[in-house]
Amino acid sequence: MDVRSYRPSDDEQREDLQLRYPVAPGVSGCRRYRRLVAHAEMYEHHRTFVAEHEGKVVGIVSGALKCVWVRGEPLKVGYFFDMRVAPQARRQGVASALYSHVESAMREDGAAGAYLIVMTANTAVRPLTQRIGLEQTALVETVAVPVQRRQRVRADVRTLSSSAAMAEQVDSHFAGHDLFVPGLERYPVSGRFTRYYAQTGSSFAGVTQSTHGCAFEEVIQPKSVWTPAMRGLLRALSVAGPVPAIPVREQPVSTWQLGEPVIAGPEGERLFQDVVSHVNNLALESDVDWLLLPLVKNDPLHRSLRRAFFARRLCPMLRPFLTVQAVLLVKSLTEAFPRRLERIYLDARDF
Ligand SMILES: CC(C)(COP(=O)(O)OP(=O)(O)OC[C@H]1O[C@@H](n2cnc3c(N)ncnc32)[C@H](O)[C@@H]1OP(=O)(O)O)[C@@H](O)C(=O)NCCC(=O)NCCS
Repeated sequence: MDVRSYRPSDDEQREDLQLRYPVAPGVSGCRRYRRLVAHAEMYEHHRTFVAEHEGKVVGIVSGALKCVWVRGEPLKVGYFFDMRVAPQARRQGVASALYSHVESAMREDGAAGAYLIVMTANTAVRPLTQRIGLEQTALVETVAVPVQRRQRVRADVRTLSSSAAMAEQVDSHFAGHDLFVPGLERYPVSGRFTRYYAQTGSSFAGVTQSTHGCAFEEVIQPKSVWTPAMRGLLRALSVAGPVPAIPVREQPVSTWQLGEPVIAGPEGERLFQDVVSHVNNLALESDVDWLLLPLVKNDPLHRSLRRAFFARRLCPMLRPFLTVQAVLLVKSLTEAFPRRLERIYLDARDF
C-alpha cells in the first residue's frame, strides 16, 4: 500500500469513499462528497492524502493548517478530518499510515499542535487515536432542532453577510478563546456564511449560519429496527409540542450549521431565542430540515445557549435524543502547544 497526495482523477472512486459513521446508538450518518477535496477546500492551507492498493484508492484523510490563538499567542495548528478507509481494507494499518503522513506534512508546514473531533459513538476510532497520542481536551455536543413551523420573533434581528463585517463583530467576542482563527479566513465563499444578531441596551445575541452543501450531502438515518417504534413514540409526543420528522432511508437531509454563538447581558438569552427563531423561519422558506449547533460542554455559556436553542422548539423529552456527543482530541507536536486547552472556539468549517 502506498500513501500519496490526492489527484483530481481520484474522484472517479469517490463513491467507495463516502464517510459512514455512527452518530448515536441506533443512528448512523453518511457524507456523500461532491468531490473528495471539496470540504478541504474550505480551508486556505489544506492537504489531502490517499492510500492506494493495487491501483485502487482505499483510504483518504485531509489536514488543514490554521493560524489560531492559543493562550493568547498566535500558533499554527493542524486540524485533521474526513478520515475513512474502504471496508475491505480495514484493520491493515491504512488509517495509521494516512495519519502518520498527514501529521508529518503538518509538522513540515510548522504546526505546533494537532487536533481532531470524533463522535463519542464511534468506538472503532478511539483505540487508533489513543495509539497516535491524541488526548481528550473537551466534550463537544451538537444540539439539533427540526425546522417545522414559523416562530414569532419579537426582537429586531439584523443580518450581516459581508465577511469583513462578520469578522469584525465575531473577532471581538472570541479573541481570547483557544483555537480561534482571526479574520476573514473562516468564511469561505463555498460555505455561504451569514451572521444574525440582535441587541438591546447592553444585551446582545448572535449566531453565524452556514451550509456545507457545496462540499457534501449528509444522510442521517435511524437504523431500520428503531424506525417503527420511534415513529410511534413521536406521534404520541406530538400532542405535547412539535416533534421532528424521522429522515427517510437514503434521502439526504438538508441542514444549516449554526456557530459562533454569543449571549451577553441580562436579556441575552431571550435575544438568542429570537435570533434562532428568525433563522428557523428563513430555514423553513429554504426547505431546510434541521438546524445544528455544536457547543463546548465546559464553556461558561453552554447551559444558557443550550436552553435558549431548544426553547420553543422541541418537546423537552426529546432533547436528549437530539444531542450528539463528540470529543475534541489534541496532540502537542512541539513544546509551544499546551496539553490542555481552555475556552475553546469551534470553527464552523470543522463540522
Ligand atoms: C476508523 C477507521 C478510519 C480505521 O481505519 P483502519 O485502516 O481500519 O485502521 P488501522 O488498521 O490503522 O487500525 C489501527 C488501530 O485502530 C484500532 N481499530 C481500528 N478499527 C477498529 C475497530 N473496528 N474496532 C476496534 N479497534 C479498531 C485498532 O487498535 C487498530 O490496530 P490493530 O488492527 O493492530 O488492532 C475505519 O474503520 C473507517 O473508515 N471507519 C469509518 C469512518 C470513520 O469512522 N472515520 C473516522 C472519523 S474521525
